[in-house]
Amino acid sequence: MTVDEVVKFVDQMVFEKTGKHLDDIQIAVVEGTWNRKSYDDIAHKYNLTNNHIADIGSKLWQLLSDILNEDIKKSNFCSALERVYYINSSQNPNIYCIGKNPYFNFSSQILHQSHQTDVKSNIHTESSLSTYDLTFAPEIINFYRREKELEKLSDWIFKQNTRLISVLGLYGVGKTTLVKRFVDLNLNNFAVVIWISLRYPQSLDLLVGDILNVCQKQPEETLDKRLKQLFSILCNHKCLIVLDDFQNLFISGNFAGQYKSEYQDYQNFLTMITEFKHQSHVIVISQEQCPEMKCLEQELYPIKCLPLSGLYDVDILRNSDLQCQESWLKLINLYAGNFKDLKSVISLIHNNYDGDVGEFLSENNLLITNQMQSRFREIFNRLATQEKDIVLSLSKFDIPVTREDLKQHSRLSIIDFNNGLQSLQQRYLVTKIKNEKILFQLHLVFREYVRNFCQDNQI
Ligand SMILES: Nc1ncnc2c1ncn2[C@@H]1O[C@H](COP(=O)(O)OP(=O)(O)OP(=O)(O)O)[C@@H](O)[C@H]1O
Ligand SMILES: [Mg+2]
Repeated sequence: MTVDEVVKFVDQMVFEKTGKHLDDIQIAVVEGTWNRKSYDDIAHKYNLTNNHIADIGSKLWQLLSDILNEDIKKSNFCSALERVYYINSSQNPNIYCIGKNPYFNFSSQILHQSHQTDVKSNIHTESSLSTYDLTFAPEIINFYRREKELEKLSDWIFKQNTRLISVLGLYGVGKTTLVKRFVDLNLNNFAVVIWISLRYPQSLDLLVGDILNVCQKQPEETLDKRLKQLFSILCNHKCLIVLDDFQNLFISGNFAGQYKSEYQDYQNFLTMITEFKHQSHVIVISQEQCPEMKCLEQELYPIKCLPLSGLYDVDILRNSDLQCQESWLKLINLYAGNFKDLKSVISLIHNNYDGDVGEFLSENNLLITNQMQSRFREIFNRLATQEKDIVLSLSKFDIPVTREDLKQHSRLSIIDFNNGLQSLQQRYLVTKIKNEKILFQLHLVFREYVRNFCQDNQI
């Protein structure tokens, strides 16, 4: 290990633990100690007092002791650091186990970075690889139900080898939480798990580069070559890549699931994931469905789709500190079991009704909170004009309607009408009910929003 590697390694550990990089004096202590210098020598070199350097040193050793979970002192710093560094890298430069190695409790990514320059091209030839990057995945504290959905995900991934799974549904229904729960339960069954948030999307080129970096592979220059590198990893190891908030790649003001020009490459990427043979899986989480996510109800078909609706279970209000438990289910039904809407109305019930759900329900039917308004405004504004037209027509009906009845209330051409109606279903704003006749219904909370806030909308 060179002195620069030592400083970088210690700096990364300290940064991971404290959020602060080493300062100049701490670096001087690390460098000096690594070069077997006494505190006196270090103090002399940097024109500082012996006491000051000893004090900085002792705090740093304490911090490293906490991080590495063993007693670190000036006298054993070199041997301990060397051992920790090489125990990890000597087994296989690609293996950095989180929570398994007694020496580490910090993220694998940091270790990857510190080794990056050493292992550029010789990796992924071995069969064992263990890389998890869950930096942008939410931490799940409470998790209720969804047993069937978790079972489905397990079945598709571990039994049917489904390569592309999309978890779809309206905002706030629990898509991200479900997938993260699945990841938490199954982490050890994958060699690589990478969670990517597309809240602030980036080009596919950069994204694949990031994935390769996490997997300790030096990204090549072009997207084409990078994809080749990535697919070689997907073939050789069982990997899980989660792409959250995928709807941000789609155009606003158009029909659902149409890529913005700068993200068009993602369409090819999803197609490649399904068409090429490999042993890995991509889970896409999105509020909008696109054609690449369309699946067949056929076993072993490489694409599966899990539409998620709200959770109709009183358990979800257990920790909400509300009163009048007998009314909870009514409240949940009213807001279609949507977690984000429920959170927002619960907060209002606490503020205005002192937590009394019964009193709230006796005074209000379906109250649209300020938060819901801004969410639905955003959703409404994303719609194509043809969709807005259908939504306004549908909002006038109190009960589900047939396509023919709906068409009669619309001024759209048959092409626009059909495309609009399909697109609204791809956004989970309209559901199709199969009775004797096929009926269509607008999401009830959204309908209330449209009735109250969109009637002046000029189409
Ligand atoms: N099964 C569950 N058990 C407990 N809480 C849940 C569950 N599902 C979701 N939640 C809670 O609901 C909130 C919203 O869920 P989540 O963020 O997963 O929704 P989403 O469908 O991903 O929404 P968006 O499309 O806006 O990203 C979360 O903060 C979480 O606390
Ligand atoms: Mg989400």
